[in-house]
Amino acid sequence: MADCSKRKKLCYCLLLCFLVAGITGGAIGIYKWYRSGLNRWHGPGSTPDFQDIIEDRCYNYTQRIRPDSRSRNCQEIKQAFMSAFISKDPCKATKEDYRRLIDLADPTVPCNKRVLWSKTKELAREYAKLRGLVTLEDTLLGFLADRLHWCGEPGSPDLNTWSCPDWEKDCRTNYRSVFWEVLSERFAESACGTVQVLLNGSLENAFDEMSIFGRVEAPNLKPMVTLQVWLVHDPGKPPRDSCSGSSIKKLKSILSERNVRFICRDNLRVHHEKRWTGRNTSWNQDCREKYQ
Ligand SMILES: *[C@@H]1O[C@H](CO)[C@@H](O)[C@H](O)[C@H]1NC(C)=O
Ligand SMILES: *[C@@H]1O[C@H](CO)[C@@H](O)[C@H](O)[C@H]1NC(C)=O
Repeated sequence: MADCSKRKKLCYCLLLCFLVAGITGGAIGIYKWYRSGLNRWHGPGSTPDFQDIIEDRCYNYTQRIRPDSRSRNCQEIKQAFMSAFISKDPCKATKEDYRRLIDLADPTVPCNKRVLWSKTKELAREYAKLRGLVTLEDTLLGFLADRLHWCGEPGSPDLNTWSCPDWEKDCRTNYRSVFWEVLSERFAESACGTVQVLLNGSLENAFDEMSIFGRVEAPNLKPMVTLQVWLVHDPGKPPRDSCSGSSIKKLKSILSERNVRFICRDNLRVHHEKRWTGRNTSWNQDCREKYQ
Protein backbone atom coordinates (compact mmCIF):
# COMPACT_ATOMS: atom_id res chain seq x y z
CA MET A 1 0.00 0.00 0.00
CA ALA A 2 2.74 2.42 1.06
CA ASP A 3 4.71 1.44 -2.03
CA CYS A 4 1.85 2.23 -4.35
CA SER A 5 1.21 5.64 -2.83
CA LYS A 6 4.89 6.53 -3.20
CA ARG A 7 4.79 5.59 -6.86
CA LYS A 8 1.60 7.57 -7.32
CA LYS A 9 3.21 10.64 -5.83
CA LEU A 10 6.16 10.29 -8.19
CA CYS A 11 3.76 9.95 -11.10
CA TYR A 12 1.90 13.09 -10.16
CA CYS A 13 5.13 14.94 -9.67
CA LEU A 14 6.40 13.93 -13.09
CA LEU A 15 3.10 14.79 -14.67
CA LEU A 16 3.16 18.19 -13.06
CA CYS A 17 6.71 18.79 -14.27
CA PHE A 18 5.78 17.92 -17.83
CA LEU A 19 2.73 20.11 -17.63
CA VAL A 20 4.67 23.12 -16.39
CA ALA A 21 7.40 22.59 -18.98
CA GLY A 22 4.80 22.19 -21.70
CA ILE A 23 2.93 25.32 -20.79
CA THR A 24 6.09 27.41 -20.48
CA GLY A 25 7.45 26.09 -23.76
CA GLY A 26 4.15 26.69 -25.45
CA ALA A 27 3.92 30.23 -24.14
CA ILE A 28 7.45 31.02 -25.29
CA GLY A 29 6.65 29.48 -28.66
CA ILE A 30 3.48 31.49 -29.06
CA TYR A 31 5.24 34.69 -28.01
CA LYS A 32 8.07 34.05 -30.49
CA TRP A 33 5.61 33.28 -33.25
CA TYR A 34 3.59 36.40 -32.43
CA ARG A 35 6.70 38.56 -32.35
CA SER A 36 8.10 37.19 -35.58
CA GLY A 37 4.70 37.92 -37.12
CA LEU A 38 4.92 41.54 -36.01
CA ASN A 39 8.53 41.64 -37.12
CA ARG A 40 7.90 40.40 -40.63
CA TRP A 41 8.17 43.75 -42.42
CA HIS A 42 11.37 45.48 -43.50
CA GLY A 43 10.55 49.09 -42.57
CA PRO A 44 10.73 50.79 -39.16
CA GLY A 45 7.83 50.07 -36.82
CA SER A 46 5.22 52.63 -35.79
CA THR A 47 6.56 55.63 -33.91
CA PRO A 48 6.02 55.14 -30.14
CA ASP A 49 3.18 57.31 -28.79
CA PHE A 50 1.93 57.94 -32.31
CA GLN A 51 -1.54 58.97 -31.14
CA ASP A 52 -0.26 61.42 -28.55
CA ILE A 53 2.14 63.00 -31.03
CA ILE A 54 -0.66 63.47 -33.56
CA GLU A 55 -2.85 65.06 -30.93
CA ASP A 56 -0.11 67.37 -29.57
CA ARG A 57 0.92 68.47 -33.03
CA CYS A 58 -2.68 69.08 -34.01
CA TYR A 59 -3.29 71.41 -31.07
CA ASN A 60 0.02 73.12 -31.62
CA TYR A 61 -0.75 73.69 -35.29
CA THR A 62 -4.36 74.78 -34.99
CA GLN A 63 -3.91 76.96 -31.90
CA ARG A 64 -0.46 78.42 -32.34
CA ILE A 65 1.14 77.91 -35.71
CA ARG A 66 -1.92 78.68 -37.83
CA PRO A 67 -4.61 80.09 -35.59
CA ASP A 68 -6.81 80.62 -38.66
CA SER A 69 -7.41 76.85 -38.56
CA ARG A 70 -8.59 76.99 -34.95
CA SER A 71 -12.02 75.61 -35.81
CA ARG A 72 -10.55 72.20 -36.71
CA ASN A 73 -11.54 69.42 -34.35
CA CYS A 74 -8.32 67.68 -33.28
CA GLN A 75 -10.06 64.77 -31.54
CA GLU A 76 -12.03 64.01 -34.66
CA ILE A 77 -8.93 64.35 -36.83
CA LYS A 78 -6.96 61.98 -34.62
CA GLN A 79 -9.76 59.43 -34.65
CA ALA A 80 -10.13 59.64 -38.41
CA PHE A 81 -6.38 59.12 -38.78
CA MET A 82 -6.38 56.06 -36.51
CA SER A 83 -9.44 54.44 -38.03
CA ALA A 84 -7.92 54.81 -41.50
CA PHE A 85 -5.43 52.00 -40.79
CA ILE A 86 -6.03 50.33 -37.39
CA SER A 87 -6.97 46.61 -37.60
CA LYS A 88 -6.35 46.61 -41.34
CA ASP A 89 -3.92 44.66 -43.51
CA PRO A 90 -0.92 47.04 -43.61
CA CYS A 91 -0.32 46.24 -47.28
CA LYS A 92 -3.81 47.02 -48.52
CA ALA A 93 -4.06 50.77 -48.11
CA THR A 94 -6.29 52.68 -50.52
CA LYS A 95 -6.85 56.38 -51.05
CA GLU A 96 -10.39 55.79 -49.95
CA ASP A 97 -9.16 54.82 -46.45
CA TYR A 98 -7.96 58.40 -45.94
CA ARG A 99 -10.96 60.17 -47.41
CA ARG A 100 -12.56 61.06 -44.09
CA LEU A 101 -9.29 62.36 -42.69
CA ILE A 102 -8.65 64.48 -45.77
CA ASP A 103 -12.15 65.89 -45.66
CA LEU A 104 -11.69 66.92 -42.03
CA ALA A 105 -8.31 68.56 -42.59
CA ASP A 106 -8.22 69.80 -46.15
CA PRO A 107 -5.33 72.24 -46.63
CA THR A 108 -6.17 75.91 -46.76
CA VAL A 109 -2.75 77.15 -47.88
CA PRO A 110 -2.73 79.59 -50.84
CA CYS A 111 -2.53 77.82 -54.21
CA ASN A 112 0.18 80.12 -55.58
CA LYS A 113 2.72 79.75 -52.75
CA ARG A 114 3.73 76.13 -52.98
CA VAL A 115 7.18 74.60 -52.84
CA LEU A 116 7.84 71.00 -53.81
CA TRP A 117 11.04 69.09 -53.15
CA SER A 118 12.78 65.84 -53.90
CA LYS A 119 15.75 64.81 -51.76
CA THR A 120 16.17 68.38 -50.55
CA LYS A 121 13.58 68.38 -47.76
CA GLU A 122 15.34 70.44 -45.09
CA LEU A 123 16.59 73.03 -47.53
CA ALA A 124 13.18 73.30 -49.17
CA ARG A 125 11.50 73.93 -45.84
CA GLU A 126 13.98 76.63 -45.03
CA TYR A 127 13.69 78.20 -48.46
CA ALA A 128 9.90 78.24 -48.14
CA LYS A 129 10.07 79.78 -44.68
CA LEU A 130 12.39 82.56 -45.81
CA ARG A 131 10.10 83.50 -48.65
CA GLY A 132 6.71 83.09 -46.99
CA LEU A 133 5.91 80.02 -49.09
CA VAL A 134 4.69 76.58 -47.97
CA THR A 135 5.77 72.98 -48.38
CA LEU A 136 3.48 70.02 -47.82
CA GLU A 137 4.89 69.72 -44.29
CA ASP A 138 3.48 73.17 -43.53
CA THR A 139 -0.09 72.01 -44.13
CA LEU A 140 -2.01 70.51 -41.22
CA LEU A 141 -1.84 66.86 -42.29
CA GLY A 142 1.72 67.13 -43.54
CA PHE A 143 2.72 68.69 -40.24
CA LEU A 144 0.96 65.97 -38.23
CA ALA A 145 2.61 63.07 -40.00
CA ASP A 146 6.06 64.52 -40.69
CA ARG A 147 8.80 61.97 -39.87
CA LEU A 148 6.35 59.51 -38.27
CA HIS A 149 5.76 55.86 -39.09
CA TRP A 150 2.56 53.96 -38.60
CA CYS A 151 0.84 50.69 -39.46
CA GLY A 152 -1.69 48.37 -37.86
CA GLU A 153 -2.24 44.65 -37.73
CA PRO A 154 -5.37 42.79 -38.89
CA GLY A 155 -7.60 41.97 -35.95
CA SER A 156 -5.61 44.06 -33.47
CA PRO A 157 -6.56 47.44 -32.00
CA ASP A 158 -2.86 48.36 -31.62
CA LEU A 159 -0.20 49.85 -33.84
CA ASN A 160 2.62 47.53 -34.85
CA THR A 161 5.68 49.08 -33.21
CA TRP A 162 7.97 46.25 -34.35
CA SER A 163 7.96 46.82 -38.09
CA CYS A 164 5.93 48.32 -40.94
CA PRO A 165 5.96 47.49 -44.66
CA ASP A 166 8.74 49.04 -46.71
CA TRP A 167 7.83 50.57 -50.08
CA GLU A 168 10.50 48.65 -51.97
CA LYS A 169 10.87 45.44 -50.03
CA ASP A 170 7.31 44.71 -48.92
CA CYS A 171 4.52 46.56 -50.68
CA ARG A 172 3.84 49.92 -52.28
CA THR A 173 0.30 50.09 -51.03
CA ASN A 174 1.32 50.53 -47.39
CA TYR A 175 -0.48 53.10 -45.28
CA ARG A 176 2.36 55.56 -44.98
CA SER A 177 3.19 55.69 -48.69
CA VAL A 178 -0.45 55.96 -49.73
CA PHE A 179 -0.95 58.77 -47.21
CA TRP A 180 1.89 60.85 -48.68
CA GLU A 181 0.76 60.06 -52.20
CA VAL A 182 -2.80 61.23 -51.55
CA LEU A 183 -1.55 64.38 -49.84
CA SER A 184 1.06 65.14 -52.50
CA GLU A 185 -1.39 64.59 -55.31
CA ARG A 186 -3.86 67.04 -53.83
CA PHE A 187 -1.14 69.54 -53.02
CA ALA A 188 0.15 69.48 -56.61
CA GLU A 189 -3.14 69.36 -58.48
CA SER A 190 -4.59 72.31 -56.57
CA ALA A 191 -1.50 74.49 -57.08
CA CYS A 192 -1.73 77.57 -59.28
CA GLY A 193 0.55 80.29 -60.63
CA THR A 194 4.21 79.50 -60.14
CA VAL A 195 5.14 76.32 -58.30
CA GLN A 196 8.73 75.98 -57.17
CA VAL A 197 10.62 72.74 -56.81
CA LEU A 198 14.05 72.19 -55.30
CA LEU A 199 15.90 69.29 -56.85
CA ASN A 200 19.21 67.85 -55.72
CA GLY A 201 21.90 68.48 -58.35
CA SER A 202 24.46 66.57 -56.30
CA LEU A 203 22.72 63.36 -57.31
CA GLU A 204 23.15 61.64 -60.63
CA ASN A 205 19.48 62.03 -61.48
CA ALA A 206 18.18 65.20 -59.92
CA PHE A 207 14.79 64.28 -61.33
CA ASP A 208 13.86 60.80 -60.15
CA GLU A 209 10.82 59.37 -61.90
CA MET A 210 10.19 57.03 -58.99
CA SER A 211 10.15 59.72 -56.33
CA ILE A 212 6.87 61.18 -55.10
CA PHE A 213 7.65 64.32 -57.04
CA GLY A 214 8.26 62.25 -60.19
CA ARG A 215 5.40 59.79 -59.82
CA VAL A 216 2.73 61.91 -58.20
CA GLU A 217 3.38 65.64 -58.17
CA ALA A 218 4.83 66.52 -61.58
CA PRO A 219 2.18 64.48 -63.46
CA ASN A 220 -0.62 66.18 -61.53
CA LEU A 221 0.26 69.84 -62.06
CA LYS A 222 -2.49 71.75 -63.81
CA PRO A 223 -2.00 73.06 -67.34
CA MET A 224 -0.78 76.67 -67.45
CA VAL A 225 1.00 76.35 -64.11
CA THR A 226 4.66 77.39 -64.25
CA LEU A 227 7.12 75.02 -62.64
CA GLN A 228 10.27 76.78 -61.46
CA VAL A 229 13.03 74.23 -60.89
CA TRP A 230 15.93 75.17 -58.62
CA LEU A 231 18.77 72.74 -59.05
CA VAL A 232 20.83 72.99 -55.89
CA HIS A 233 24.31 71.66 -55.32
CA ASP A 234 25.93 70.72 -52.06
CA PRO A 235 29.01 72.77 -51.23
CA GLY A 236 32.26 70.90 -51.70
CA LYS A 237 30.72 68.27 -53.93
CA PRO A 238 30.99 68.29 -57.72
CA PRO A 239 27.65 68.99 -59.43
CA ARG A 240 26.37 65.75 -60.92
CA ASP A 241 23.29 66.90 -62.76
CA SER A 242 22.28 70.12 -64.50
CA CYS A 243 19.36 71.76 -66.24
CA SER A 244 20.62 70.34 -69.53
CA GLY A 245 21.07 66.82 -68.14
CA SER A 246 18.94 63.92 -69.29
CA SER A 247 16.87 63.61 -66.10
CA ILE A 248 15.71 67.23 -66.32
CA LYS A 249 14.98 66.75 -70.02
CA LYS A 250 12.73 63.89 -69.06
CA LEU A 251 10.91 66.13 -66.58
CA LYS A 252 10.57 68.79 -69.23
CA SER A 253 8.93 66.37 -71.63
CA ILE A 254 6.47 65.14 -68.99
CA LEU A 255 5.51 68.75 -68.31
CA SER A 256 5.21 69.86 -71.90
CA GLU A 257 2.75 67.03 -72.54
CA ARG A 258 0.64 68.56 -69.81
CA ASN A 259 1.10 72.10 -71.02
CA VAL A 260 2.92 73.12 -67.85
CA ARG A 261 5.45 75.90 -68.33
CA PHE A 262 8.97 75.15 -67.22
CA ILE A 263 11.94 77.18 -66.01
CA CYS A 264 15.15 75.62 -64.70
CA ARG A 265 17.90 77.37 -62.76
CA ASP A 266 21.25 75.73 -62.39
CA ASN A 267 24.34 75.87 -60.30
CA LEU A 268 22.69 77.14 -57.21
CA ARG A 269 25.12 76.75 -54.38
CA VAL A 270 24.06 76.45 -50.82
CA HIS A 271 26.06 78.36 -48.25
CA HIS A 272 26.64 75.53 -45.94
CA GLU A 273 27.62 77.19 -42.71
CA LYS A 274 24.73 79.66 -42.89
CA ARG A 275 22.23 77.28 -44.30
CA TRP A 276 20.61 76.03 -41.11
CA THR A 277 20.38 79.28 -39.24
CA GLY A 278 17.22 80.25 -41.05
CA ARG A 279 17.39 83.99 -40.71
CA ASN A 280 20.29 84.48 -43.05
CA THR A 281 19.52 85.94 -46.40
CA SER A 282 22.38 84.40 -48.32
CA TRP A 283 19.98 82.25 -50.29
CA ASN A 284 17.95 85.23 -51.40
CA GLN A 285 20.99 87.31 -52.27
CA ASP A 286 22.51 84.42 -54.13
CA CYS A 287 19.42 83.94 -56.24
CA ARG A 288 18.97 87.61 -56.90
CA GLU A 289 22.54 88.20 -57.95
CA LYS A 290 22.58 85.31 -60.30
CA TYR A 291 19.18 85.18 -61.82
CA GLN A 292 17.21 88.32 -61.49
C1 LIG B 1 4.92 73.45 -31.48
O1 LIG B 1 5.48 73.66 -32.78
C2 LIG B 1 6.66 74.41 -32.80
C3 LIG B 1 7.02 74.67 -34.25
O2 LIG B 1 7.09 73.51 -34.98
C4 LIG B 1 7.74 73.68 -32.03
O3 LIG B 1 8.92 74.44 -32.02
C5 LIG B 1 7.25 73.42 -30.60
O4 LIG B 1 8.20 72.64 -29.92
C6 LIG B 1 5.92 72.72 -30.61
N1 LIG B 1 5.41 72.62 -29.27
C7 LIG B 1 4.86 71.52 -28.80
C8 LIG B 1 4.35 71.60 -27.40
O5 LIG B 1 4.76 70.51 -29.45
C1 LIG C 1 21.40 65.89 -51.80
O1 LIG C 1 21.45 64.50 -51.61
C2 LIG C 1 22.52 64.08 -50.77
C3 LIG C 1 22.50 62.56 -50.79
O2 LIG C 1 21.26 62.04 -50.45
C4 LIG C 1 22.31 64.64 -49.38
O3 LIG C 1 23.36 64.24 -48.54
C5 LIG C 1 22.26 66.15 -49.47
O4 LIG C 1 21.97 66.72 -48.21
C6 LIG C 1 21.19 66.61 -50.47
N1 LIG C 1 21.28 68.04 -50.67
C7 LIG C 1 20.35 68.88 -50.21
C8 LIG C 1 20.57 70.31 -50.52
O5 LIG C 1 19.37 68.51 -49.56
